[in-house]
Amino acid sequence: MSDAVAQETVELAPLQQIIDEYKGQRGVLIQVLQRAQETYGYLPPEVLKAISEGLGVPLSQVYGVVTFYAQFYLTRRGKHVIRTCDGTACHVRGAAKVIDAIQKELGIKAGETTPDYQFTFEVVYCLGSCGLSPVAVVDDQVVGRLVPEKMLQIIRDLREA
Ligand code: FES
Repeated sequence: MSDAVAQETVELAPLQQIIDEYKGQRGVLIQVLQRAQETYGYLPPEVLKAISEGLGVPLSQVYGVVTFYAQFYLTRRGKHVIRTCDGTACHVRGAAKVIDAIQKELGIKAGETTPDYQFTFEVVYCLGSCGLSPVAVVDDQVVGRLVPEKMLQIIRDLREA
């Protein structure tokens, strides 16, 4: 995530570079949105407006794509993203206790981000690693055989890192 996100205002210069790379090409909207999200961590309104203007694509179409695909985020996310599975296999092996522990530790519910933007917490329903249940993905790393204590230690380690 770039420094642009740490400040309240969004620095559009990195985005302009991305737009310049793709300008004049057709069918590049999704690629530009992906690159922009990699840069900013999410897609704030000013970024979407600049993409619309830069690529000559109507803003309504840009929003249409962003809201259609789950991979795009319109709100700022935490520096660390914890996705905990509560699918059937994970649920029967105690995922609810892990989820409860995370919510208490972070003071947020599933789908929320901590006020300091350090953590976003999400609950998903099967991560495809049922053999390791209960499972979570923490910053793109799969963590299996979770118990609340193990997850709390991960959160504390991330806080201290
Ligand atoms: S149900 Fe949790 S990984 Fe499949």
